[in-house]
Amino acid sequence: MAEVVSSVAPLADERRQLKLLIDHVSDHAISLLDPDGHICSWNRGGERVNGYTAAEAIGQHVSIFYTAEDQQLGLPQQTLERVREQGRLVGEGWRVRRNGEQFRASIVIEAVRENGVLQGFVKVTQDITERYQAQRLLQDAQRARQHLQQFEGVGRLTRGLAHEFNNLLTTIGNALDLVALRPMADARTHELVELAQAAADRGSLLTRQLLAFSADQTLVREPVSVPQLLEEAWPSLQRACAPSNRIRLDIAPALPSISTDGVQLHSAVLNLVLNSCEAMPHGGTVTITARLEELLAPDLAHPTRRRYVALAVTDEGGGMPPEVAARASEPFFTTKEVGKGSGLGLSQVFGFVSQCNGFVDVQTAPGHGTTVRLLLPAIEEIEYA
Ligand SMILES: Nc1ncnc2c1ncn2[C@@H]1O[C@H](COP(=O)(O)OP(=O)(O)OP(=O)(O)O)[C@@H](O)[C@H]1O
Ligand SMILES: [Mg+2]
Repeated sequence: MAEVVSSVAPLADERRQLKLLIDHVSDHAISLLDPDGHICSWNRGGERVNGYTAAEAIGQHVSIFYTAEDQQLGLPQQTLERVREQGRLVGEGWRVRRNGEQFRASIVIEAVRENGVLQGFVKVTQDITERYQAQRLLQDAQRARQHLQQFEGVGRLTRGLAHEFNNLLTTIGNALDLVALRPMADARTHELVELAQAAADRGSLLTRQLLAFSADQTLVREPVSVPQLLEEAWPSLQRACAPSNRIRLDIAPALPSISTDGVQLHSAVLNLVLNSCEAMPHGGTVTITARLEELLAPDLAHPTRRRYVALAVTDEGGGMPPEVAARASEPFFTTKEVGKGSGLGLSQVFGFVSQCNGFVDVQTAPGHGTTVRLLLPAIEEIEYA
């Protein structure tokens, strides 16, 4: 008799313990699905991660957590089918909360079988958006650092070549001046000399640009107010746009200062605005925004939150195909025809931001425009208690 009692009490206890355990895992959504993918049970973590209460979630199909595009592609059904076949699936993807917000999810789905018959699925979801973003920023920073090293090597080579060319072009220019001054020079000779002089001028302009690029750029860092800098840069930014392009500013109030080189930051924004206008030859709007963002600094060993001033330039242009986006920040990479661009614009932006301990985040897709976001660490006021 005593044995019967003792075998019932622990079972009840175990169930309660299990329920308490699952319910108290507040940063993981743990749910049980029936074999068709309808939600049968829901823990408190589910409310936190997905935004639905148990009453709202139970009975719904698991596809409510997928984006509209993924639903259209039939991803929820394909996922369950794969778990049915393979028994288990571990993955990552974008999911949608009840309020429509998207988050990066780490997902484990396991098929539950009893005597070989599928009873349903156990699904565990974790919100890893912050970690994902920090990783992406870290990868971008590593790429930017590699580019910077490449940039330094190319810079040394360029500096040597540019000096040589400058000397040659000076000799050519002087010789052309002397030819033009000769008394027997006829009209046709003058015409040809002018043509050659214009080409020499263009050549020396290019060598000057190359010298500017290859100069060891030491930053003069000081506290800079981004709104003030944008205000001062505004006339030059407007001039950079064709009349068919509109440009607008949207700055959040009370932004903290950043430690940077104002001249370089101005060049970076100008480069981005030029790129945006060039991407919209038939007109469109360039939007410059400045916001305060609190992000996990991408130091994965010691993840800490930092405040960044996020300076973004957005356009409504054609966007970049993946193979262009992957190489866009390389020095001398350009899709423009020869003679139209040096391909140094974005490498200046990446190199400079990385020198300021910041990060560049590029969001672009063919047909969906481009946003380049510069994340620059805010200067933190030291608080005295
Ligand atoms: N906003 C954008 N929209 C679409 N493509 C872009 C955008 N910004 C950059 N790109 C692509 O990246 C390439 C490299 O840009 P980058 O500014 O470094 O050089 P560039 O604009 O070609 O030349 P330069 O800046 O020297 O005139 C561009 O040629 C273009 O293909
Ligand atoms: Mg450019």
